[in-house]
Amino acid sequence: MTSVHLIAAARPNFMKVAPLYHELKRTSWCEPMIVHTGQHYDANMSDSFFDELQLPPPDIHLGIGSGSHAEQTAGVMTAYEKIILDKRPDWIVVVGDVNSTMAVTLSAKKLLIPVAHLEAGLRSGDRTMPEEINRLVTDAIVDVLWTPSPDADENLRNEGVAESKISNVGNIMIDSYELLREQIEAGKIPEKFNLQAGKYGVVTLHRPSNVDDQDTLARLTDYLCQVAQETPLVFALHPRTRKNLEGFNLFNKLDTASGLQITPPLSYIQFMGLVRDSKFLITDSGGVQEETSYLGIPCVTLRDTTERPITVTMGTNKLANPDQLLGCIADISQGAWPQGQCPPLWDGKTAQRVAEDLFRRINAN
Ligand code: UD1
Repeated sequence: MTSVHLIAAARPNFMKVAPLYHELKRTSWCEPMIVHTGQHYDANMSDSFFDELQLPPPDIHLGIGSGSHAEQTAGVMTAYEKIILDKRPDWIVVVGDVNSTMAVTLSAKKLLIPVAHLEAGLRSGDRTMPEEINRLVTDAIVDVLWTPSPDADENLRNEGVAESKISNVGNIMIDSYELLREQIEAGKIPEKFNLQAGKYGVVTLHRPSNVDDQDTLARLTDYLCQVAQETPLVFALHPRTRKNLEGFNLFNKLDTASGLQITPPLSYIQFMGLVRDSKFLITDSGGVQEETSYLGIPCVTLRDTTERPITVTMGTNKLANPDQLLGCIADISQGAWPQGQCPPLWDGKTAQRVAEDLFRRINAN
């Protein structure tokens, strides 16, 4: 049996780990184990995802919690190094681009354990984003790079990564959506928020570039209040965003704005249940750009760059700065927005391709 550690750390990781865990568990050759670094620890940022995605409790929990980037990275490296020395997994799979992704990779490679990166090769080109640093470091030293789209393959080639290490497997997030599609559709989530399908927008914002600067967050608050006067909005508030809204005395304005509902972070089924029936998304998340392109829903991404350009070239995503938001929403209302197409291999079968690729590579050695 090949023992494989699957590393889960933060909210956007759980839906990437779940389909692969289920796929590997079904095989006769692999014993997958889930390692939770504890980067996200709140019930609604972590536990609800394990429950809904039918994941068992983590086999190993590092309990790292919050901290500065260096503290979080060093904490994961130190704690996971001990685990590697104790358990000696045959392979480690890291996903996405959070601090734990890079930290685990560094510890593992120094102890000569092979590491595969799922969702490799994405690049925003913006090195002020902590995630971009995590992606660059991780992809420079892992043994296998599983990419979601051809642009990612191209980025890796340009960085000199050997062709033999790269496999384009498609988008694992779509596997999670398909796994839970029935429950997402049956949940009648808009009704629970007193909303009508196709007549409301969903908002998620948590990037430092949008929420850490008082002036930017104040402008965004104003624009969201204006949008909500025409189209009801649900704003699922990330803890970082809530903290800053409160610190800048903006929370009450948003909370009392007409047409705007604030909720704590939602579970995966609740969130996707809202997204699939929405008129548009306003976001700065990575994953939401992909989910909306898959579902054909207009997405305004409040960022200067995206590491997921295929959502713009093929999908329903457009990048905008805060001052362009009202214009974008007007365009969506007038139907002046790309219809989009589903990118290749975003088909719910990515976990299967990853498992096959891993099996092939293990047996080739
Ligand atoms: C992290 C990831 C980001 C991802 C995001 C999704 C990095 C560098 N960033 O950013 O790529 O898009 O997760 O959410 O890894 N907090 C809680 N409860 C939790 C987790 C965090 O209250 O369960 C608070 C922390 O105390 C901190 C803030 O939220 O104040 C930010 O958490 P952190 O994990 O540092 O980064 P994110 O902004 O969530």
